[in-house]
Amino acid sequence: MNTSLKVGMMIAGIISNCILTNKDCTANSKTPNLYHRSVLAMYEEDDLGSFALFGGGFINYGYWKLPLGKEISLEERIESQKDLYRFVCEKIEIAQTDFVLEVGSGLGYGAALMINEYKPLAIKGVDFSNFQVEKARNSHRELISQGKISFEVSRAEFLNFADNSFDKVISIEAAQHFESIDSFIQQSYRVLKPSGSLAVATFFGTSEDSYFRAKDMIDTVRTGIDRLTPISQIKKMLEEANFINIRIESIGQNVWPGYCKWISQQEEFKDSWGANWIKCYIGNVVDYYLILAEKPNGQ
Ligand SMILES: C[S@@+](CC[C@H](N)C(=O)[O-])C[C@H]1O[C@@H](n2cnc3c(N)ncnc32)[C@H](O)[C@@H]1O
Repeated sequence: MNTSLKVGMMIAGIISNCILTNKDCTANSKTPNLYHRSVLAMYEEDDLGSFALFGGGFINYGYWKLPLGKEISLEERIESQKDLYRFVCEKIEIAQTDFVLEVGSGLGYGAALMINEYKPLAIKGVDFSNFQVEKARNSHRELISQGKISFEVSRAEFLNFADNSFDKVISIEAAQHFESIDSFIQQSYRVLKPSGSLAVATFFGTSEDSYFRAKDMIDTVRTGIDRLTPISQIKKMLEEANFINIRIESIGQNVWPGYCKWISQQEEFKDSWGANWIKCYIGNVVDYYLILAEKPNGQ
């Protein structure tokens, strides 16, 4: 059996498992804590990072190496989240001379991984949540005292840094929340040095009607917490901001089946609307992307 057929069969198995175990995946009274009032509340009072959906201080769906095992262990779940960072770092080619800005740095474990494994000069992590920034500062004291990483409160839409400050700007699973992704893109361009690069990994809509097709299946889409901006609009925003060498790669196959399988193992969440992501992926409503773009030299 060839590899793509095997992967296809595996995904089909996972989907049918998710669908079978999720007779009703719409908002469910059994999991009220999946209903968040706002993006900020989700990362402050609700402390999303403490949910069994995540682990290890990371808050992302993960990049899963295929084929998936029969049962996913917590260690594998954490590794998938680390692998999302590794995937992005390798694609953007972090160099040891780089000064890196991470936007939406959460609890700072991604920044710590990047500094330990890819050894850029320094990383600044910014997040709009005071709670996340304080927790990040407390969790990574040693790297902070060595001057390797630092964390600041800042909104993606108003980056509080001088023009031409960073070699790389990275954002992992945060841009789906930004009130204005257009402003984030323009701000990233501004703070990047000439020839600097931007990497964004997260989910977007596959087309103009993605929001309408997903809103009744996924509460955070309906409430606007997760904005399914169409990927074609993101490309246009990057072009209009003057980014060049824009590359958009769909990585949904390495994200949704693994994440869905992990959800289906969580008693607390397996019947929640959170499990509907895979249906939206299969239905070509949503996809997970890695986006790379460069600021031209001499700009
Ligand atoms: C899903 S978490 C990802 C955290 C981290 N990148 C990771 O993978 O573990 C999204 C993060 O983005 C932050 N965030 C959401 N909207 C933001 C905004 N407009 N500006 C800056 N940070 C934001 C949240 O507070 C949260 O920490």
